[in-house]
Amino acid sequence: MRVLVVDVGGTHVKLMHSGDPEARKFDSGPGFTPQQVVDGVKANTRDWNYDVITIGIPSPVLRGAVMEEPWNLGKGWVGFNWSAALNRPVKILNDAAMQALGSDEGGRMLFLGLGSGLGTSLVDDGRIVALELAHLPYKDQTFEDVLGQRGLQALGEEKWRAAVLEGAELLRAAVAAEYVVLGGGNVRLFKDLPEGVRRGNNDKAFEGGFRAWETPDAGELTSTPLKALASYAPREHLRDLFTQDPARADRFFLKVGEHLFVDYSKNLITSDSMTALFELARKTGVEALRDQMFAGAPINSTEHRAVLHVALRNRSSRPMKIAGQDVMPDVRAALDHIRSFSEAVRGGKWVGYTGLRITDVVNIGIGGSDLGPAMAALALAPYTHDGPRTHFVSNVDGAHLSDTLRSLHPATTLFTIASKTFTTQETMTNARSAREWFLQRAKDEAAIAKHFVAISTNEPEVKKFGIAPENMFVFWDWVGGRYSLWSSIGLPIAIAAGFGHFEQILDGAHQMDEHFRTAPLEQNVPIVLGLLGVWYASVLGAASHAVLPYEQHLQRLPAYLQQLEMESNGKRVDCDGHVVDFQTSPIVWGEPGTNGQHAFFQLLHQGTRLVSTDFLVGVESHDQLGDHHRLLVANCIAQTEALMRGKTEDEAREELKAQGLSAAAIDELAPHKVFPGNRPSTTIMYRKLGPRTLGMLLAMYEHRVFTMGAVWHINSFDQWGVELGKQLATAIAKDLASPSDPTPHDSSTNRLIRLAKSK
Ligand code: F6P
Repeated sequence: MRVLVVDVGGTHVKLMHSGDPEARKFDSGPGFTPQQVVDGVKANTRDWNYDVITIGIPSPVLRGAVMEEPWNLGKGWVGFNWSAALNRPVKILNDAAMQALGSDEGGRMLFLGLGSGLGTSLVDDGRIVALELAHLPYKDQTFEDVLGQRGLQALGEEKWRAAVLEGAELLRAAVAAEYVVLGGGNVRLFKDLPEGVRRGNNDKAFEGGFRAWETPDAGELTSTPLKALASYAPREHLRDLFTQDPARADRFFLKVGEHLFVDYSKNLITSDSMTALFELARKTGVEALRDQMFAGAPINSTEHRAVLHVALRNRSSRPMKIAGQDVMPDVRAALDHIRSFSEAVRGGKWVGYTGLRITDVVNIGIGGSDLGPAMAALALAPYTHDGPRTHFVSNVDGAHLSDTLRSLHPATTLFTIASKTFTTQETMTNARSAREWFLQRAKDEAAIAKHFVAISTNEPEVKKFGIAPENMFVFWDWVGGRYSLWSSIGLPIAIAAGFGHFEQILDGAHQMDEHFRTAPLEQNVPIVLGLLGVWYASVLGAASHAVLPYEQHLQRLPAYLQQLEMESNGKRVDCDGHVVDFQTSPIVWGEPGTNGQHAFFQLLHQGTRLVSTDFLVGVESHDQLGDHHRLLVANCIAQTEALMRGKTEDEAREELKAQGLSAAAIDELAPHKVFPGNRPSTTIMYRKLGPRTLGMLLAMYEHRVFTMGAVWHINSFDQWGVELGKQLATAIAKDLASPSDPTPHDSSTNRLIRLAKSK
């Protein structure tokens, strides 16, 4: 990573970049503004390449945010958005802290910058700890009055030197530093320094600026408003918060109708944290953007498209318009098409080319054209016993299709080719192979019409493939792939579970939409969940979010949510094209409980990472097998309690003692038996997983994603990040097919291509 370091001083701004000893500078002075720094940086570094920037500013800095206007420069430094102005990730440091970091030789060091003022900073094992000691009272004045330029003038050089060493020792002891480094311009007035005091070098500021990016944790990126929210994180352990506030569980509990209950009290929050987050939602215009979405505005700005999947499940008589045109008649017509076709297939009116009923439906699609229906068909397994079996083929790995077709008969198999674009490589490859498989057996092109239908927005491509328009189920460009389960993409669900149940999914989603659209922020479930998402990802630095359904039939929910959340919010530039300076989407992962407990829960309980978690569980189960459901629910609730409470060392020791262990054995084992607790979870409980509840849950997650994207001011509805791999795969596929040597790639890629060809 190439770093540009900008050291802002009272008379000059100095610049240096990675790998080049040349420094440049331009003039600053009283009245100098951040915008002038930006202009100067741009003008002076046109021929330099750099990826990230460190800026040292002569002002107190807390968590990357300038806290006060610098006394020797102009105004506008507090709250200035550097990353947006310079279009690179930026770290802001106090100038003394930057020099301190450059002078760091390990351990715990107090840095004093002796200049016109007094810069103070502590570096503890490579991490900067913000300090503002200059204005502490000292000898009837302040440390700065005595140790800074004014002290030098008042005391004269010799007395000033003695005063500096005395003051330095006092401050060192106060912050328990192991040694002191004196830097700044006036350090030149010292010839010798006593033991424990070292000399800094002004050029070390650059070194500090480079080092600032050496920390592996990108969670440290500067974010002015977001990271500053960390001051609202509770200082007490969750266990103590529950003890202090018996009403905590009521305070942080929400419900939607009598179906869905959200207990978010076991999160690392207080009422103050939530107030700050609601304020953030207001400031960032979450509600306004939500209203724009419902109003059909083109909020997918890079593709100039409306985002109106909510219209697909609009069960009211309200029109929903894009550019003044009501889309509801088209939506209803598409639903009628799904109804009549699914009923014909399920009722045996739609038969295969030999007159036999359809027993198996194979959906060929990938991403949003696969994950939604695949997840939902499984989630609704208790409702699918009277419909054809559904299979989902997505991977271009031929094994996926071959394994699926092995047990199927062409005369009773229906293929739904689902692709919004109808150009996706994997889907079209699988679709062509499926057609070949079918024709090899049916030996009649005319039979295709009975066994292949398309779900797409691209009629010309569907026709080219050989599917007649009457066998095409439509949707529209204002439905994003990962938001398309409610559209014709849901056809396999309607075939498997019946159209009535498909409609109930839409009903549930509509109920959640209405809640999202109308409930005040404080009671708005998706908004609260979205704000918690922002809280963990961008404020507290959690890199991942685990979704843990205690519901076997929600087995595919984590995979579905991976696309929903990571394809939507895995972005590094905001809607205006500026590189953001905070963490966006977490890595979403998960497995059904209780399986996860015996795999990765060890890390959740005793690992070193902060992971936010959602636990999902039904009050009732479709399954009536013995005591299973009681045990399932007990495990779910117990895990949230264990994560929150933990087990103290005293408790661990008591337990071991009760087991009769010797004192020595207890000493040895106790550290391993401690659970720190204070680990967050949200519990989402519902009555029973049916189609309506499923619709509510999925819409809830969609709007959580929306809320996070809105706060971050990123476009949650495009996915440019998937394109490069697609382009390169096309080129490499050609290389693999060609008898000659690969077209030049890097040496690794070339070698892998040759190896792959060495059959
Ligand atoms: O690879 C990304 C993606 O474009 C997803 O957004 C989409 O859901 C998937 O591919 C499938 O696209 P299509 O439905 O056009 O085949």
